[in-house]
Parts: sequence; structure tokens; C-alpha cells
Amino acid sequence: MASASEPPASPRDAADQNFDYMFKLLLIGNSSVGKTSFLFRYADDSFTPAFVSTVGIDFKDTAGQERYRTITTAYYRGAMGFLLMYDIANQESFTAVQDWATQIKTYSWDNAQVILVGNKCDLEDERVVPAEDGRKLADDLGFEFFEASAKENINVKQVFERLVDIICDKMNESLEPSSSPGSNGKGPALGDTPPPQPSSCGC
Ligand code: GTP
Ligand code: MG
Repeated sequence: MASASEPPASPRDAADQNFDYMFKLLLIGNSSVGKTSFLFRYADDSFTPAFVSTVGIDFKDTAGQERYRTITTAYYRGAMGFLLMYDIANQESFTAVQDWATQIKTYSWDNAQVILVGNKCDLEDERVVPAEDGRKLADDLGFEFFEASAKENINVKQVFERLVDIICDKMNESLEPSSSPGSNGKGPALGDTPPPQPSSCGC
């Protein structure tokens, strides 16, 4: 079993270390699905049952209202990966996944990778979204799928690592010599977004 004995890797530690690539990843989904908790579990190995709603973009505010459009597009721009999250004990958050997916497709880079995450899988007694429904929706949308729990530390690290893996796969695909940007009919190449910069030249 994983325990909390490992030293927490805070974002500050990560920033202090050498790294090969830096990716912009976004967590999106309805309020209270556990985005902040998920990030804290990953970055700090901590969890708090208190709910402090993040002040920021709320889908219902941004979807139809022109005055928020600039904020929305700026927020999504340049993101290479998304964790689109719902709460397995909250039907409304699952229903909203389709709208969030539309947001991603409308505002993000075409090659952005997405993982659908059914969070709070520790709440089995309160489950209203069968895992199979999550998997099917992910298949329909072309996303990968995980159920996870920020509270019980289930699949948190795995989800982040998988997202980075599929972004790297996509990068390698785009950088293959045979694929010339813009000519392969696959949409924009990597150069359309600020590319991840190697921290040092490996040549
Ligand atoms: P906004 O900032 O409003 O968009 O919400 P959020 O998606 O960031 O949700 P947040 O991480 O603040 O979590 C909302 C509530 O759900 C908090 O009370 C958390 O403690 C709880 N929560 C988060 N993840 C889990 C989980 O995996 N299991 C359980 N049981 N509760 C969780
Ligand atoms: Mg939050």
C-alpha cells in the first residue's frame, strides 16, 4: 500500500529542480468535483475535507456570456493537457462533461490531450455514475479514462503521469521527420502553441 511516508514534492521543489520539459496542464470540471483537492494530493500529498471554492472560471458564467470570452480563451490557450473531472456521486457534474469537452475543443490547441477523471471513487455508497458510463463517454469523446480519489490517493499520480505520457507521445509523433507541419491533414503541428522547451541542449 502507498503510504504518506514519502517526502512531499511541493511545486517549489519541482521548480528548483532541473527538468527536461515544462507542460501547461489544466484541471477543469464543475465546482466541487475535487480539482483543487486532486492537485493538492499530487503536489503536496495532502487532503482537506473542507470545501473552499476556487474563485475563477465557472462554466455557467463563461459559456454564454461574451464578456468572459477573452478570459476563457486566454485560460485555455497553450494548454497541452486537460484533466476533465467529474464526481462519481454527482450526476450533474457528469452531465456537464460534454459541455466541458466542447469548451476544450473550441478554445484549446487541437492536439491537446485529455483524460476524463471520475473523482471521489471512495464514495462507492453514494455512486450515481457507473464506471462503465464514464468509460463509454470517454471512448465517445476520444479521451482516456480513470476513476480516482484525491481523498484516498487512488490513481492521482497515475493520472498525471499518463497525461504527461500521452502528451510526450503526441510530441514525438509531431516531431517525426516524415510529418511536415500543416501538410499531413492532422491539424496544427506542435509549433502552433508555445513548444515545451528543453532545459538544456542535449545534442
Ligand atoms: P471549485 O474550486 O469550486 O471549482 O471546486 P473543486 O473542483 O476545486 O473542488 P475541491 O477540490 O475544493 O473539493 C470539493 C469538496 O470535495 C471538498 O470538500 C473536498 O474535501 C471534497 N473532495 C475532493 N476530492 C474528494 C475525493 O476524492 N473523495 C471525497 N470523498 N471527497 C473529495
Ligand atoms: Mg477548486
